[in-house]
Amino acid sequence: MTKKIFIGVAWPYVNGDLHVGHLAGYFIHCDVIARWHRLKGAQVLMVSGTDCHGTPITVEADKRDISPQDLIKEYTPRIHELIKTYEISYDLFTSTTTTNHYRVTQQFFLNLLKNGYIIKKTSKQYYSLGDKRFLPDRYVEGECPYCHAKDQRADQCEVCGRVLDFGELIKPKSKLTGRPVTLKPTEHYYLDLAKLAPLIQAYVNKKSKSWRSWVKKETVGWLKEGIKPRPITRDLDWGVPLPVKDIAKDMLVKDAESKRFYVWFDAVIGYVSAAIEWASRQKDSRSWRRFWFDENVYHYYFMGQDNLAFHTLFWPGQLIGQDQGYHLPDQPVVNKYLNLEGKKFSKSRQVIIDSLQVANEYGADVVRFYLLSILPEHKQANWQWRQFEDLVNADLVDSLGNFVQRSVVFYNRNLSAKIDGANRIIDDKVESQTRFAFEKVDKLLAKVELGRSFEAVFDYARFGNKYLNQTEPWLSLKTNPAKSQQAIFNSLYIVRNLAVLLSLFLPDTSRLLLAIFDKPELKPTVGVDKYQPVKLDLKLGRRLNDSHLPLFKKIKL
Ligand code: MF3
Ligand code: ZN
Repeated sequence: MTKKIFIGVAWPYVNGDLHVGHLAGYFIHCDVIARWHRLKGAQVLMVSGTDCHGTPITVEADKRDISPQDLIKEYTPRIHELIKTYEISYDLFTSTTTTNHYRVTQQFFLNLLKNGYIIKKTSKQYYSLGDKRFLPDRYVEGECPYCHAKDQRADQCEVCGRVLDFGELIKPKSKLTGRPVTLKPTEHYYLDLAKLAPLIQAYVNKKSKSWRSWVKKETVGWLKEGIKPRPITRDLDWGVPLPVKDIAKDMLVKDAESKRFYVWFDAVIGYVSAAIEWASRQKDSRSWRRFWFDENVYHYYFMGQDNLAFHTLFWPGQLIGQDQGYHLPDQPVVNKYLNLEGKKFSKSRQVIIDSLQVANEYGADVVRFYLLSILPEHKQANWQWRQFEDLVNADLVDSLGNFVQRSVVFYNRNLSAKIDGANRIIDDKVESQTRFAFEKVDKLLAKVELGRSFEAVFDYARFGNKYLNQTEPWLSLKTNPAKSQQAIFNSLYIVRNLAVLLSLFLPDTSRLLLAIFDKPELKPTVGVDKYQPVKLDLKLGRRLNDSHLPLFKKIKL
């Protein structure tokens, strides 16, 4: 039976342009894993979308004095352009503002309610009498009760560093209007994570063996400390509304109409709602169920490190609480941060590399190449322009580009009409190195070790380069033509197989390599394993297409 792979990728907040940190955090990783599984013949469904709710959106919209809708309208096309530019191969990239998503979110809540995993609880929240509204903590500032610094946030004083308990702030006021705020009781729904904890624990015990060790450690740490019920609604007017009509009277919270689901409650549900949307676009509305309820499926999630608990604890809890047999996450792939020359990316402090701009300047594959060389898989990584220049020039231009160029040009100039059957023999060493490269990349990708698998591809390119240097077909061209022909045939065989391996990592480069042999882009077929070394078929007398060479230009910063 064909393997089915579901890949859920973190949904970026649509409150600004995405920088290369986002690419290094999850965009590139998920894409490589998806391409690899597709090429092996699996049926892959990779979904994500824009995360449109919550204070990350409203704060930015308020700051610019526009509506959340306008903010979303402004940035969404730019995210789509980025996905296209970098060829991130989503099967669907949607948004949390669709009516489908609203409906699925509400249904998830109703199931949790019916199954007894939701409780009601009253707490105090900041409320502005003048504005007649509750305010999220991020909208409130006041005086620190310890050092009396002014204009401090409700959760921590930036001057003395003390963490503040809720309600401790002196003379709290609204950041938006400056009006005073008071504390007022309000009733909310909580996901009963304490009740779900044993089930989540059992899930973690069962599946975490294959997780990155620090991901497992952090998850187990949370469980050891004990997870408490968490509020899943907010007093806000932007977000998914509660299904008020479908909630029994005795379970209805006060003022339910004016509440919305908490952004992290609805965003993760996007993994299911997007699958449903994908299926209906396929005109096969039940097909999404195969990815969520069949036996033979495997689920990956890709995200940055601050998303960890939401994917290894709370999301599994939401799924378990449905009590419908939803498949639980198998492999949460959590990545650390990428910094820029040792500093955290920050728009306001101008520590930023715009993803689109850098692709326009150097080419998307060049950026993909550099990021794949420094991925923050196990520890933080650092974008350094000097290193960018060095690695591109050494690996892309020299190891890969030159090797390809020399092989093709030499063949076209001297041998295109000559290599006959007798000399079309692959050396044992070349054959075993080719097989070794395919196996090594495969093994490492199975462990989601992307950086090391990418290195293995370049080891293979370097092998090709060395092979060409050592066999020196230009010296034997006259004296021993058979040797010369064999050597170049083997070099081109390596180029041909590099095109297959690179199709997982550098899609455009792979296309250019295939174009040399007049071959179209490598297209996966469900049920057919095309992740295999391929033979080289050279038409006698036909020159290779060198119109895209050289593949890369040296960078001089
Ligand atoms: N928007 C969140 C962030 O940027 C990620 C949400 S992942 C989701 O950190 F899938 F839960 F939506
Ligand atoms: Zn203070």
